[in-house]
This record gives sequence, structure tokens and C-alpha cells, in this order.
Amino acid sequence: MSVIELTINNRAIRGDVAARTHLGDFLRDNQNLTGTHLGCEHGVCGACTVLLDGEPVRSCITFTVACDHQKIRTIEGFDGDELMKRLRRSFSVHHGLQCGYCTPGMLITARDIVRRFPDADEARIRLELSGNLCRCTGYVGIVNAIKAVLADLKESPITDASPAPVRQAAATAAQPQAAGQFQTFAAVATAPSDEPARSSREDTASPVANVQQTGARKGWTAIDDSFVVPFPLDQVWAFMGDLPSVTACLPGAELIEHDSEKVKGKIAIKFGPMSANFAGAARLERDDAAHRAVMRGAGQDNISRSKANGDVTYALSDEGNGAHTRVAVTLEYMLQGPLAQFSRSGLVKDFVRRMIADFGARITAQLAGADMPAPAGPSTRLNVGSLVWSVIWGRVKRLFGRGE
Ligand code: FES
Ligand code: FES
Repeated sequence: MSVIELTINNRAIRGDVAARTHLGDFLRDNQNLTGTHLGCEHGVCGACTVLLDGEPVRSCITFTVACDHQKIRTIEGFDGDELMKRLRRSFSVHHGLQCGYCTPGMLITARDIVRRFPDADEARIRLELSGNLCRCTGYVGIVNAIKAVLADLKESPITDASPAPVRQAAATAAQPQAAGQFQTFAAVATAPSDEPARSSREDTASPVANVQQTGARKGWTAIDDSFVVPFPLDQVWAFMGDLPSVTACLPGAELIEHDSEKVKGKIAIKFGPMSANFAGAARLERDDAAHRAVMRGAGQDNISRSKANGDVTYALSDEGNGAHTRVAVTLEYMLQGPLAQFSRSGLVKDFVRRMIADFGARITAQLAGADMPAPAGPSTRLNVGSLVWSVIWGRVKRLFGRGE
């Protein structure tokens, strides 16, 4: 068991949780927030979608311990949200639900789409919604409902973020926890606040017109990290310009063709039951004087029809009197389509950081002429599943103050 603190629908929570408990079970079984539905429990259907620090995540593949010190917003936390009110009304008018099982996840995803893509057409809505499945197949009504809200917002924009008073789950608001695994969990600040349960991403005057994104560019996520390679700067810089060698340091990546500036290649990724094989092209821009380079690329996975755009910037600097080189990496990316919901959670960001560290270890091995460290998965495919376990273990260790 690990002690964690998190905020759910604007209510602070502290207590013990088992490392294996996923967020969906925790919300439903411990917090009585049963508006979060569980369908596949494999990260495929999107029924369990909630906001984690303002970004949609699948609670069935998000471990509760990984949410320490973060803000969760479930469907119950949108009662006073004007945009959600319009979406609910529109779903009802346009017959966007039959049995309703997918509806909480659909609404949270729909709200995210409307906020991020105010000019979305039907094709864009369908693409962005494709990570949420409706087993009643009511997609026409759902898409029409979202289109109607987008049109309505043009006529009648939401100019002020309405307060989102939080409906407490009956058992947690009015009485102590029911006996069970999480009895020690306590609400440390239960008074409803006038403030909506906003995340940093949602902390904006208008929920529609002025959305702040995690990265500097709208819709993009940015991650900064660095690693140190025990070789001189010039040697590392020369190596980083050799595209086949650099590609060999990325598990799952394959170079198809290249010249000194442009590359075509593909990278295979497996995330639980989701597999993707992105094929694309990138251009490398190098500044030899500054030892700084940017790789700008775009690709598409033809199976899921997800699209990815990404810039990797790396800047080298001397570390340790010429014996070592620090490689500062900034990864900015945007995923669209079914895989988009996997791209923005804290867990995925931790995973990317772990991937960058592994990349550094493999560059070190290449430069030293040593055997390449084993790939993350059992095959050459980049297996996010196995890496995620190491990420989670890292988080659990941090919870106990042991560092990584
Ligand atoms: Fe989480 Fe299906 S229940 S994605
Ligand atoms: Fe039944 Fe979508 S309305 S699963």
C-alpha cells in the first residue's frame, strides 16, 4: 500500500491505495463515483475516460498511485460546467445515446474535442472520437450532437468559465467511507468550492475560446529531459549526425531511406492491446556552431489511422571538463485519432522520459562499441507495456522516497 494525495472533483483526498488498483476501480469502488463506466478494461473502448490534470485519460489503464498530487475530474464533476450542459442537452436532442453506457466517456471526450477544435468538421470529429466506442453504434447521433454544439458556440460563445460545483458521491460526502479496502481514505477539504475543478490546462477565462495547452503550440504536448553521455562533445555531435546510427538507438525504429537532411522510416509501438506502426518522414536541421539540432517529422499509422506530428530538439553542451556531454532533449508532439488519448497522460509523459533515458544509454553503448542494451520489449517492437511497468515502479519508489 502507498499513501497518496489527490484531488477528485475539487475535493482533496489522502490515504492508502494498493499499487495495482487502477483509477477506474478506485473511483467507482472507493469513491462511489460510479458515473465512470468500465467497459473493456484494456484501454480500448474509452468508456472509462476521465480528466487527469485537465487531459482525458483512460482510468482503466491509469494506476491510482500514478495520480499522486494530481487532479481528477469525473463526469460527476461537470454539473455546473456550461459547455458540458450544452453537450448533454445536445446529446439528448440528437439521440446521442441509447443504453448510455458509453455516454460519460463520450461526453468527456466530446468536451475535449470542442475545446481543442472549435472549427472541427465532421471528419475531424469522427477522427478525434474514434478512441471511444459505442456498442449501440449510435455514432451518427453523437457526431451530430457535437456538430450542433460547435455551431451553437459560434452563435453564442461561452465567455466565462461557469463554476462547476461538485456533486459529492453520496457515501463520501455525507458519511464516512464504507468499510473496505480504502477505509483510511479521508477527504481533507470537503467544502464545495465556488471554483470549478480546473486543471492548469483548463485554467482559462473561456472554456472554448482560449484553451491553454500543455505545450507552447495549441494541441501539442512538450516534454523536456536530458541525459549525459561519457564522451567528448565533438564525438557525440558527430554521432548524432549519423542518422542510421541514431535510429539504431531507438527500439522499434527502422530507417527506410535518408540523405544528410531527410529521412523516411517507421516505428512500431505496442501499448497494451493497441498496436501502431507509424510510417513517416522527417527533416533534420543542424546548427553545428551551437551544437543544436531539430528533427521535424510527421507520420501516420494506417491501421488505427492515427496521425503524429513531432519535433525533437536536442542541444549538446560540455559537461565535466570535456569528458562528458549533456544532451538536452525537448520532445513536442501531437497525436490525432484513436491513439490521441494515450498521448497526454502523466504516465505517458513518464514513459517518454524513460524512453529518452534508454535512448541515452544506447547511444553510450554505441559510442563505446559495447553491446546495445536489450530492447524494452521481447521483440524489436517498442513495447510500451513493459516500459510502463518500469515507469510505475519508478513512481512507487518515489512515493516511498527512494528515488529512481
Ligand atoms: Fe477503459 Fe475500455 S474500460 S478503455
Ligand atoms: Fe450504448 Fe453507446 S449508447 S454503448
